[in-house]
Amino acid sequence: MMLDPYKIREDFPILKRKVNNHPLIYFDNGATTQKPKQVLEAIKNFYGKYNANVHRAVHTLSQEASELYENAHEKVADFINAGGMEEVIFVRGTTEAINLVAYSWGLHNLGEEDEVIISLMEHHSNIVPWENLSRMNGFRIKYAGVNEDGTLDYESFENLFSSRTRLVCISHVSNVTGVINEMKRIAKIAHDNDALLLVDGAQSVPHMPVDVKALDVDFLAFSGHKLLGPTGIGCLYGKQEILEEMEPFHGGGEMIREVSYNPATGRCSISWNDLPWKFEAGTPNVCGGVGLMEAVKYLEGVGMESVKEHEVRLTEYAMERLRECKKVKVYGPRDVSSKCGIIPFNVDGLSSHDVALFLDSYGIMIRSGFHCAQPLHQRFELKSTARVSFYIYNTREEIDKFIEVLKELERF
Ligand SMILES: Cc1ncc(COP(=O)(O)O)c(C=O)c1O
Repeated sequence: MMLDPYKIREDFPILKRKVNNHPLIYFDNGATTQKPKQVLEAIKNFYGKYNANVHRAVHTLSQEASELYENAHEKVADFINAGGMEEVIFVRGTTEAINLVAYSWGLHNLGEEDEVIISLMEHHSNIVPWENLSRMNGFRIKYAGVNEDGTLDYESFENLFSSRTRLVCISHVSNVTGVINEMKRIAKIAHDNDALLLVDGAQSVPHMPVDVKALDVDFLAFSGHKLLGPTGIGCLYGKQEILEEMEPFHGGGEMIREVSYNPATGRCSISWNDLPWKFEAGTPNVCGGVGLMEAVKYLEGVGMESVKEHEVRLTEYAMERLRECKKVKVYGPRDVSSKCGIIPFNVDGLSSHDVALFLDSYGIMIRSGFHCAQPLHQRFELKSTARVSFYIYNTREEIDKFIEVLKELERF
């Protein structure tokens, strides 16, 4: 079923705003998405009615808050088809999820003999944790190449594997080009080589159906704020048997079952809590979890297939209309069927920041710079790009306005 962006827009109060005396056009959804009133109300409702710490007290408010927080884990588990809430750890976002795997799994399992494969199209949050850890543990990182059209070079990727490969870390969708990587194919290659697979789902989970069982991924990281939820909450999915074997990430309250002091040794012995709490030390972002649950419910109401279809149509339309702009160069694949609703481009003779500022003066918000993906820009010998990224509330009329302003910029 096709979604109706005009009906959806009614749920987003911010979209009624004007910026620089123009109706707001928000095309920076790859960075973060706007929030529907259902999410805003859930947050207000939580603090207005249920606020308490979770898993600590026996009083009614704490019981209710705990139940809500657990329901949020169940809802997210269901959304990505995880085995249950044991496999869903709430973290601050994709960045923290990847760091969790690096320091809870990588620190204890990767040594000088080992190799990790990542790709040149990764966001810095899927590069820096591995580069940092490799400096500590001495394992080797190998970078898979990217083709001229921004797609993964599968041949070079496969050639990187050896008997030492232990882990593959790769994004499902590039935040620069919108390229969708063939995750089932990648999972098969990784597993045939006895390596684990960590998928950065920051740009896929919000935009298309993602089923962790069907894809057979070992870890999946994503951020709530990129799928209509609040900032400061995200998820690490991990296969239960792997999470059970892993060391905790942070230490503190909530993640322990027992801490007992032994006067004979002068030390405490510690046992870990059950999953997923073993990885959620300290007071968690309960309200963020509640907001995320509401965001997921909203997206389920729209239907993830419809979300994807809407974005494909918008992207097709925008790519078509961009051809009219003779000074605009678009990067990434031309074939929209293999990409999500992200289009990087440059305007001849202008920096991406100048392009973004000009569009801003007409109320159009786009991203400029290297989008936390410098190695990919280096690959294409680019300093930066401008980027539009669409979501469920964007319309063809907004694209028309965007093209009109770009043409104005070309004349200018
Ligand atoms: C592909 C990708 N990975 C990781 C991240 C980092 O997400 P966060 O800043 O929410 O942790 C982003 C954010 O833009 C992203 O696009």
